[in-house]
Amino acid sequence: MNLEKINKQAIQEVSGAKSTVDLEKLKVKYLGRKGELTSILRSLRNLPEKERKSTGKEANELKKTIKSMIFKKNSEITEKRLKSVEKRIDITAPGRRVINGHLHPLTLITRKIEDTFQSMGFRIVEGPEIENEYYNFDALNIPRDHPARDVWSTFWLKHGKNQKLLLRTHTSPMQARFMEKNNPPFRIIVPGRVFRYEATDASHSHTFYQLEGLMVDRNINIGNFKAVVEEFLRRIFGRETETRIRPSYFPFVEPGFEVDMRQPSGEWLEIMGAGMVHPNVFKAVGYVPSNWQGFAFGVGIDRIVKLKYKIDDIRLLYSGDLKFLNQF
Ligand code: FA5
Repeated sequence: MNLEKINKQAIQEVSGAKSTVDLEKLKVKYLGRKGELTSILRSLRNLPEKERKSTGKEANELKKTIKSMIFKKNSEITEKRLKSVEKRIDITAPGRRVINGHLHPLTLITRKIEDTFQSMGFRIVEGPEIENEYYNFDALNIPRDHPARDVWSTFWLKHGKNQKLLLRTHTSPMQARFMEKNNPPFRIIVPGRVFRYEATDASHSHTFYQLEGLMVDRNINIGNFKAVVEEFLRRIFGRETETRIRPSYFPFVEPGFEVDMRQPSGEWLEIMGAGMVHPNVFKAVGYVPSNWQGFAFGVGIDRIVKLKYKIDDIRLLYSGDLKFLNQF
């Protein structure tokens, strides 16, 4: 094939190319090692000198021309493709807003309470939600067949081998579990989920959260309890909190108290049970009761959330209702 014919054919084929893939094929066809121009350039040495010079020059020029033709066509095709994409996508439009997740109010308050106690030297420990009868009741001075057991309406689980299993009705079993393995002095808090087989209302849920506190040392008294609890409530609610402590009964403390807080409605809401650790609990975990004193409390986190955010009904916390949850 002569150069002129190659030139004509190349012009036609390159201008007819539809894609960069087509162009790549043409590049191989004309300029590749087995390409038509290359074979002409290779056969030059068989020509007489005069012809060799002029044909060589022409062939080299044609090679350059075809190269630049392909290059030009390539940018045309690329540009066209970009333009059609731009037509479909408005690249100047503002981005879509990403909705960020956030913490559940129970988590927010739990963390705040944990921070408060940690700053007063309390360590955080956790215990199992599935408990056995011993830790939930017996070790806490609540004997079998004692009417006090009925105070905590229990979800019983199928029997374990030697122990009746249940969903813990409070975080207090962790008092016994911790003291069995650790010696005083210590200060711990135990946040966690608890369960009760009971009717629900605006301040009662069958599943809720408690935070247990336990401080044991040589000379702990009610004054220490009062100071710690008042500081905790001040840090959560500010200086203007109206609280009251009144006597109450729990088998694992002596004396026992309950703490109430004033609600926006003016009514009191019970937020925690508490007291001085009963000698029988110290005995059950292997301490010598006369050597140690301590206070313990169990605060209802849901109730704290209810008061802090002025929520009418704690069951909203478990509703999964985004209209409610997105307020936090
Ligand atoms: C107890 O559970 C004791 N373990 C507390 C305790 C610990 C006493 C250490 C002494 C020493 P009570 O059943 O009162 O006590 O519950 C404690 C707190 O949990 C209540 O004050 C309340 O804030 C919260 N609470 C109780 N029942 C519910 C419920 N159904 N829904 C939401 N919160 C509840």
